Amino acid sequence: MDATHASLPPLRFITCGSVDDGKSTLIGRLLHESRLILDDHLTALTKASARHGTTGDEIDLALLTDGLEAEREQGITIDVAYRSFATQLRSFGVADTPGHAQYTRNMATGASTADVAIILVDARNGLQLQTRRHSAICALLGIRHVLLAVNKIDLPDDPEAVFHRIAGEYADFARSAGFVSATPIPISARYGDNVTRPSDRTPWYQGPTLLHLLETIDVSQDHVDAPFRFPVQRVVRPDADFRGLAGTIASGAIAVGDEIVVASSGRHSRIARIVTFDGDLPTAQAGQAVILVLADDIDIARGDLLSAPQTRPELADQFAARIVWMDEAPMLPGRSYLLRLGTDLVPARVTSLRHRIDINTLSEKPARTLSMNDIGVVHVAADRAVAFDPYKTNRHTGAFILIDRATNATAGAGMIDFALRRATNIHRQVHQVGPAERAASLGQAPCVLWFTGLSGSGKSTIADLVEQELHRMGRHTMQLDGDNLRFGLNRDLGFTDADRVENIRRTGEVAKLMVDAGLIVICCFISPFAQEREALRARLGEGQFIEIFVDTPLQDCIARDPKGLYAKALAGQIPNFTGIGSPYEPPEAPELHLDGTQPAAESAALVIDLMQRRR
Ligand code: ADX
Repeated sequence: MDATHASLPPLRFITCGSVDDGKSTLIGRLLHESRLILDDHLTALTKASARHGTTGDEIDLALLTDGLEAEREQGITIDVAYRSFATQLRSFGVADTPGHAQYTRNMATGASTADVAIILVDARNGLQLQTRRHSAICALLGIRHVLLAVNKIDLPDDPEAVFHRIAGEYADFARSAGFVSATPIPISARYGDNVTRPSDRTPWYQGPTLLHLLETIDVSQDHVDAPFRFPVQRVVRPDADFRGLAGTIASGAIAVGDEIVVASSGRHSRIARIVTFDGDLPTAQAGQAVILVLADDIDIARGDLLSAPQTRPELADQFAARIVWMDEAPMLPGRSYLLRLGTDLVPARVTSLRHRIDINTLSEKPARTLSMNDIGVVHVAADRAVAFDPYKTNRHTGAFILIDRATNATAGAGMIDFALRRATNIHRQVHQVGPAERAASLGQAPCVLWFTGLSGSGKSTIADLVEQELHRMGRHTMQLDGDNLRFGLNRDLGFTDADRVENIRRTGEVAKLMVDAGLIVICCFISPFAQEREALRARLGEGQFIEIFVDTPLQDCIARDPKGLYAKALAGQIPNFTGIGSPYEPPEAPELHLDGTQPAAESAALVIDLMQRRR
């Protein structure tokens, strides 16, 4: 055994390419020829290939990994399952990432923890859009080394020319993507040429085999000694005498007696014990799951990040990042998502989309939204400061995901570039007269009455009657109306999805200020998206947001057509009119569900009734 190589750290790699490119076959062959397939598994496989295989009497190695793939598609987490195998020289972890275009998400999550990417191309097809897309994602996610496996090299008439042409084209792309190394290899995954054994069918290729490259590639420079980072997963408190912080060390190492600091509060303590299932340890390092016991009983919760005091992470509520969008629903600036960074979870918005990255040319393109598989450069604002490191210095504490609040699906994966120090040195002012005092002096319980429904559903008519009645009762009110606000505060907004999101966000902020002033705020907005209405509910607090759904069938709204807009929309003159060319998502559990076909006075009476029961 070669001593230098034996001491190399385990190598994590991903394979990118479609099933047709031979990806599963390649992984199967690597595992097979490293004799890592257990004998009984191999027997079962031989039988399966005889039944389902596409390779005649040979074993269909693709069957080995395709089972795994289906399993993984179910999950919505971003954990990546690695298969391990080892040769005499090195141990490996391989994440097989599905190749269809819509699987960018899995691909991106695999890439975020890998050292090397094997990019597969079919020698007959050459570089594809997907080859560039996968390479671009790998580069963005911090992979520094790629192996370009030009597969099925046994098939072209002039394999040498084909190989050199593909390698040449890829070299140009790899340079602009910024890889440290990009090595082309001609292989045949099916027959094993240049996979683990040099092939006599490619006498024109003198380079190493794919396995040899994997065994010898030096990624040690990529693992600069990262400082200690420990995202707290759980505070463990079985009894009054023990309090431990459970989690996995994200980077660096720690020893009993070391000083630590909590990023969010700046509080210091020392490590008293490092507890594991197998007893206490004197030291622990990246990747280990441990329970840390501190010397002092300082305030710590799930989501906090412990670090070494001399090398602290950044702490900011706004930052610039690159994101890979993975959701069918587009990314809309202004929409509230949940941001998960390590174990921390906080509501956040993309405040601006700087540009989209064209993955063919790696150039910047202007954009208003991101669609599935798009990659963009964005500014993100979280509801409070989060602790992080720039992704280029730490891939664990610099990566985050955005979660769709309605579906709980992972909607985007992000990499933080740097903190934005926009409005620094601002501090919330506490006034002696606050919302409670103002409400008391007006003698009422302030709230927002949020009317949602189609244009022409009758929102404004009902709201007007409600306000008149509240006025008679001596209540202090204010009315905000979608049309009216678009003459002033929201005059820069149109009716794209992104503009509607921003329209409701701004209105919500204004309504919140008015509630703090003690008023009953009556709002009439189509507000077609459930997510924005839920964000309002969260912003105002339970009990202060009263959602009133004015449910009028589209046909009735069209028949009424008070502003003549439906006629125009149906004639194709207003392309994204709600109900015609743009969706309306009805509320699932509004505080009040009004039948918009009954007389407005009856609906208004139901609202007043609700208000009185509320007191
Ligand atoms: S929202 O969708 O962003 O909540 P908002 O309530 O502010 O809409 O404004 C809706 C009003 O704008 C409608 O009542 C209608 O008078 C007018 N309008 C003009 N274009 C459109 C459109 N494409 N879709 C819906 N309403 C429109």
